[in-house]
Amino acid sequence: MNEIECYILAAGIGTRMNSSLPKVLHKICGTEMVKMVLNATHQTAISNVTVVVPRKSQQYKETIGTSVKYKTQTDRKGTGHALLTAKPDILDSGIVVVLNGDIPLIRKETIDALIDQHKKYQNILTLVTSRLQNPKGYGRIIRNDLGKITGITEQNEIQKKSVESINEINAGIYCFDSPWIWNSLEALTPSPRGEYFLTNIVQLAHIQNKKIGSVTVDSEEIKGVNNRIELSEVEQLMRRRIRNTIMLSGVTLTDPDSTFIDQGVTIGADTTILPNTHITQNSNIGSNCHIGPNAMIRESNIGNNCKIHSAVIEQSTIHDNVSVGPFSHIRPGCLIEKEVHIGNYTEVKNCHIGERTKSGHFCYLGDSEIGSDVNIGAGVVTCNYDGISKHNTKIGSGAFIGSDTMLIAPIEIGKRSATGAGSIITKNVPDDSSAIGAPARVRKKRL
Ligand code: UD1
Ligand code: MG
Repeated sequence: MNEIECYILAAGIGTRMNSSLPKVLHKICGTEMVKMVLNATHQTAISNVTVVVPRKSQQYKETIGTSVKYKTQTDRKGTGHALLTAKPDILDSGIVVVLNGDIPLIRKETIDALIDQHKKYQNILTLVTSRLQNPKGYGRIIRNDLGKITGITEQNEIQKKSVESINEINAGIYCFDSPWIWNSLEALTPSPRGEYFLTNIVQLAHIQNKKIGSVTVDSEEIKGVNNRIELSEVEQLMRRRIRNTIMLSGVTLTDPDSTFIDQGVTIGADTTILPNTHITQNSNIGSNCHIGPNAMIRESNIGNNCKIHSAVIEQSTIHDNVSVGPFSHIRPGCLIEKEVHIGNYTEVKNCHIGERTKSGHFCYLGDSEIGSDVNIGAGVVTCNYDGISKHNTKIGSGAFIGSDTMLIAPIEIGKRSATGAGSIITKNVPDDSSAIGAPARVRKKRL
């Protein structure tokens, strides 16, 4: 059997994070760290992935889903113990890739290179190393005079200055031959604190005179996250990766450093993103848009040629040629059709707004079905809440809603009807009518 099995170690508590959330479930640019590691493995020849999780694993399973197998490490006794927990019942020959779950920037190319190297030199063990200016905190790679790897010394085991100053570190990404690894794990002995270090397997392989190889990569990619400072550093590196990819695909970021784009966001060519703009996961933006400055787009789809200026758009869909803002808030559940204009200080929630409708100035539009070519005057409010329940408003196409109209929902304004400035509408207004006053009197238009 020549399958490549992969194990992601993710059961650690992450003490240094000081968090109630398990470390590997913290997000980098919108995606959980362990998911990023998993996504990298999905792009390689790896056939099966097992994630080692702690006893309370509900949150892991909700995040990661069903594309992997899970093994539970009931006592957190170190990385060697975590892998041993996942030992299969039947040991096949083949390759076992092991990845720490806290190295979110790992790229598919590195995993591929690791596997290639392992196969090419027929190693028993191949690992990823890197050279760091400041290696503190990482396991140091010990090499003999011939340059061969003989072991790894963990930071808290270092006794000699000469080891402390070694700047080649263990990245926490390994490739092993099966069944050698599974049998060898049984031979690990605990540290004084009762932890079984996976890294001690390297010395074991050396003592057995087995072939050990390594792949050395750039330091950014293998940065481990153990505390919130490292979390923010990795977040910044990832953000830069995303921004560079987006710019190379034809998007202008006028100030990349103040542009925050999550993983998975797509943006069409010739869109310009202005400073202080945040675009979160599950958002897609079309071509030729102007987004920002000061825009927040959360889980939304924006069409082509849109202008979103100093506005917040959440869980909504906006079609082509729409302009929003400045200072407007499109709340969840909106579908805004093409050529709509939502101007200043307008809050829109759970509304379907038809083509070419305009709402230029300070309004609240909630739970509404608004047709096309409607003009909404300044200060219009859909009074959708009676203190107990929310109610719907329907405005027909071509209607003219005068400034300061209060629409007391549930309410329907007919097609091409008009309401007077300051009117309070408590009864439905049929098509082709006008409604004036407080409460409004309804008059059928003379046609
Ligand atoms: C580990 C390596 C170190 C390496 C560094 C790279 C060991 C002993 N040390 O140190 O050589 O330089 O990664 O980032 O492996 N985990 C479990 N169960 C446990 C303990 C940990 O599943 O009982 C998981 C954690 O969730 C984490 C991974 O293993 O994803 C690594 O554990 P961590 O505590 O972060 O190890 P480091 O101290 O970073
Ligand atoms: Mg770590």
